[in-house]
Amino acid sequence: MGSGRRMVFLSLLVLLSPGPSVSSPAQIDPLVYEEQLLWVSGAQGHVNTYRIPVITFTPKGSLLAFAEGRKSTSGDAGAKFLAMRRSTDKGNTWSPTSFIVDDGMNPDGLNLGSVVVDEEVGSVILIYAVCFHSFHCNPSSTMMVESRDDGLSWSPPRNLSIELGVQAFAPGPGFGIQKRYEPAKGRLVVCGHGTIEGDGVFCILSDDHGRSWYYGAALKSIPYNQKKSPNDFNPDECQPVEMTDGSIVINVRNQNNYHCRCRVVVRSRDGGLTLPIDDLYFDSTLVDPAVAAGALQKDGVLYFTNPSNDRSRVNLTLRWSLTNGLTWENKVVQIWAGPSGYSCITSLDSGSVEDKKYIFVIYEKGHRDYDESISFLKIHLYGGR
Ligand SMILES: *[C@@H]1O[C@H](CO)[C@@H](O)[C@H](O)[C@H]1NC(C)=O
Ligand SMILES: *[C@@H]1O[C@H](CO)[C@@H](O)[C@H](O)[C@H]1NC(C)=O
Repeated sequence: MGSGRRMVFLSLLVLLSPGPSVSSPAQIDPLVYEEQLLWVSGAQGHVNTYRIPVITFTPKGSLLAFAEGRKSTSGDAGAKFLAMRRSTDKGNTWSPTSFIVDDGMNPDGLNLGSVVVDEEVGSVILIYAVCFHSFHCNPSSTMMVESRDDGLSWSPPRNLSIELGVQAFAPGPGFGIQKRYEPAKGRLVVCGHGTIEGDGVFCILSDDHGRSWYYGAALKSIPYNQKKSPNDFNPDECQPVEMTDGSIVINVRNQNNYHCRCRVVVRSRDGGLTLPIDDLYFDSTLVDPAVAAGALQKDGVLYFTNPSNDRSRVNLTLRWSLTNGLTWENKVVQIWAGPSGYSCITSLDSGSVEDKKYIFVIYEKGHRDYDESISFLKIHLYGGR
């Protein structure tokens, strides 16, 4: 055989051989491929406690991890840094921590927050609250910083409350979305929750790449603007994901355990303008101790992480659904049996086979308490194959 012919023969073999087809959802068998502690409370950067991990992809294929660096206590109020680390090699190595926002001595400083990527203009936007608890300060404000260079530099904070009004709004924590499908393709949708009494899920929207924002959907707590009792309806921290039909599914913390000790799920079919009660349900499979959880839709599969326990923040677990969250696979991956709290999931999508194989999880992890460290996981979806 001449070499030309051999080439043809070999390429035919490659084409015809069944090979390991590792991108079929039915073969999902997640494996924790790598784990790294990105922040350790009390040990790094003159910070008392790192909490509230958030992670995102960037338009250039980098990963950005964020956390609150709580300066002097572990409490939700108090002064903080907004800490960031950046990886340009798919999570293998990370830059040192940079503090991209410093709120000084604010008695009720910044609270993370949602990161949202605008792929149309190549920007990364972070939205966070200051003075959310109105603890020795007033009013609560919604703030935004933006990076146009893959997270290397950030704009000065911009006060969105000037156009939104001074209603308390705590975004996420997690990511906001840019609509990839109609309706409202291109819209930025950032969902979060309201004040302690006026709680509920609220979404802010931008149709001009973050230049201007307005309030969209609201799912209010009952009784709204009144002190809650145990088991009242009190939707709280939330993570939206866009499904492939263009609807937005929001997975919500059920703060007062209304109906169940499990997650609330609500769906918007109009790009985040409304959250009808008709499209709300309680997912009894997603047992939850009232916490911020992670969710991601990747290649038609829905992933979910939370401390899967109805009373305490322990047992961080990864689940996946091949039916848009209607049912969950019986198999689960227990990521950490011990104390574990908030989590967030992202993935890269350059169209490469490599990027189809991984998701990335960031979560609060500890031995005695969940706020001891913030850990990053690279998860191989097909068992390392
Ligand atoms: C943001 O703007 C609102 C409305 O003008 C104002 O009341 C608030 O003090 C501002 N917040 C900050 C942190 O500048
Ligand atoms: C951990 O999560 C799994 C899956 O939900 C559950 O079967 C198990 O009972 C949980 N264990 C604890 C200690 O919460």
